[in-house]
Amino acid sequence: MISTLETLESTGLAELAGVASPDALEAWRLAYIGPSGKLKTALGAFKDVPKEQKPAVGAKLNTVRAALEAAFAERKATIGTAPKASELLDVTEPGIVSSSALGRRHIITRVRDELVEVFARMGFDVASGPELEDDDHNFVKLNIPPEHPARDPIDNFYVDNPNSARSPRMMRSQTSTVQVRVMEEMVKRGGGKLKDSIRVVAPGRVYRPDTVDATHSFMFHQIEGLYVDRGVTMVDLKTTLMQFARAYFGESAEVRLRPSFFPFTEPSAEFDMKVRLRPDQPERWMELGGCGMVDPNVFQACGVDPEEWTGFAFGFGIERLAMGKYGIPDIRMLFENDVRFLSQL
Ligand code: DAH
Repeated sequence: MISTLETLESTGLAELAGVASPDALEAWRLAYIGPSGKLKTALGAFKDVPKEQKPAVGAKLNTVRAALEAAFAERKATIGTAPKASELLDVTEPGIVSSSALGRRHIITRVRDELVEVFARMGFDVASGPELEDDDHNFVKLNIPPEHPARDPIDNFYVDNPNSARSPRMMRSQTSTVQVRVMEEMVKRGGGKLKDSIRVVAPGRVYRPDTVDATHSFMFHQIEGLYVDRGVTMVDLKTTLMQFARAYFGESAEVRLRPSFFPFTEPSAEFDMKVRLRPDQPERWMELGGCGMVDPNVFQACGVDPEEWTGFAFGFGIERLAMGKYGIPDIRMLFENDVRFLSQL
């Protein structure tokens, strides 16, 4: 019996040393130390051992069991928890991505980027200015005199007292402020003189305390354009706007300028675009914004010599463009951020 147990121990340990997988380890456990394994069989035979041999055989049984169980535990610690080959993670496999989990840029952001891209192809750089502005940049330097109705505190988000002596701060009501900032910066860089032509577009948010309805919001986006060079004419303005319209809305787009008035341009115009938004709809004129030749007073206020430089400017509403292009009937849909709406665009 003792020698049988010794053989059991040595073959068990030898076999265990050759076990390399969790499956083989489990098979070994069942064969040796499981409820109907070899050790159990040996235990069953213990009752037939002659009485005088029982203490020695019992002690041997215990040591063999302890040796096999300890060896098993040790082996399990090294291979028992290793994942099967089929469970290994292959980091080079493409991931499982459902399209509904992908985000997208907001339609306003996309339209803004598309506009910037079209103007970039025409050689325009991108400029920006602060949304928290001051009266000087929003009005004074844009040739909007103190008594002008556009400056009424009821129509603007003033942050400081609008009657304070120094240029009171306000949320900008138009991106035309960036025209002033760009010209001032270029004059500063030129040591007090404009040395180079300017060609920029400036997209951004503007704020007006309008009552919210289908076409008005207290915050919306504009894109401003400024072109300053020698000998710029109204023809350059119209050509630029026409090229923009064709690039953005397609070859069939037409541009129309209607005489208008803005304090910072002379002459001024509003520009409309004729577009067929959908094949099943008739063509129609869509009003995009204002434009004109930069007023000499604005040049002077920014330190640009109006005898040397000429220029045109334009500004239009980004929401209006997006609504026209995508057939969106209500401006509020653009700000409610209802995913069911946004995911259709
Ligand atoms: N700032 C004007 C507005 O908010 C739009 C505008 C008109 C911008 C004429 C211009 C311009 O640059 O030349 O209504």
